[in-house]
Amino acid sequence: MRLKTVGLLTSGGDAPGMNAAIRSFTRYAVTQGIRVFGIKRGYVGLRTADMYEMNLRTVSDILHRGGTILYSSRDPEFQTEEGIQNALKTYNESNLDALVIIGGNGSLKGVKALKDKGVKCIFIPATIDNDVSYTDYSIGFDTAMNTALEMIDKIRDTTRSHEKCSVVEVMGRKCGDLALNIGIGVGATSILVPEITYDFEKDIISRIKYTQNIGKRHFIIVIAEGCEKSLEISKKIEEKTGITTRCTILGHVQRGGSPTLRDRVIASGMGYYAAQLLIDKNFNRAIAIACDKIIDYDVDSTLTVKKKFNLKLYKEALNISI
Ligand code: F6P
Repeated sequence: MRLKTVGLLTSGGDAPGMNAAIRSFTRYAVTQGIRVFGIKRGYVGLRTADMYEMNLRTVSDILHRGGTILYSSRDPEFQTEEGIQNALKTYNESNLDALVIIGGNGSLKGVKALKDKGVKCIFIPATIDNDVSYTDYSIGFDTAMNTALEMIDKIRDTTRSHEKCSVVEVMGRKCGDLALNIGIGVGATSILVPEITYDFEKDIISRIKYTQNIGKRHFIIVIAEGCEKSLEISKKIEEKTGITTRCTILGHVQRGGSPTLRDRVIASGMGYYAAQLLIDKNFNRAIAIACDKIIDYDVDSTLTVKKKFNLKLYKEALNISI
């Protein structure tokens, strides 16, 4: 039987590029004769049947916008049996034939729960943290890196003028991908990531002192939020080195802004790919990037994959940040 009606939602922390995926999915699906319902606020809207029909023009003028026109949320109620049952009720009563879910790790768990109850799902990875382990890349990562880069370049100007040290905390949850790449991009003296145990004296103080002795006058230390101690570290650096040190927690600025070209292209590609999977009746698939190509995996196979940290890149960073 031909697929007639699908629901589309964005869930978890928003990520720049989600709108581009919404747009390409909707445009391709609608032109192929599929009705698309935009479900509002992620799994909340699925539980409460809060949705509207989308058309080619509903998704006009959103390609370049950050955030998500469908709104997003983290929904603890969806994790209960009652929550799932309410979601199933909406799915059945609205005559949906499949769901497309755009989000991060929490959203992927939701996909698994729905799929196990017989819902046909497609998952598109989108999170600035890049911590969805089965894919090399998640929508929003490039924009977040570039936003942080721009912010830290500004911090660097004042850090340099005053010959200070700046500790900058970036997002990423328990994943160091953002911190590592941003740290390289801003030439950080030290980069702390949750994947690698650090030694305060060796990995921070000695590096500052060594580079100070060979002429460095200002210092940037990038810390992933998963390391949890940026303020404390900042105070200790000042105490130990005598260098005036300031701490900046970049926070949610990293989640906003117009998506970069890379995020627009990847998100558009993934949205299109999701529609094609549905047209081909290829259900319960998780879309991924592997070796710069868009591919898909069985949802079940994605849940046990462990995220790999790029140790080689980390070592390179240490050798050039002097
Ligand atoms: O998942 C994206 C993310 O921005 C993480 O980097 C961060 O830990 C978390 O979301 C913040 O979540 P909230 O906006 O709910 O505080």
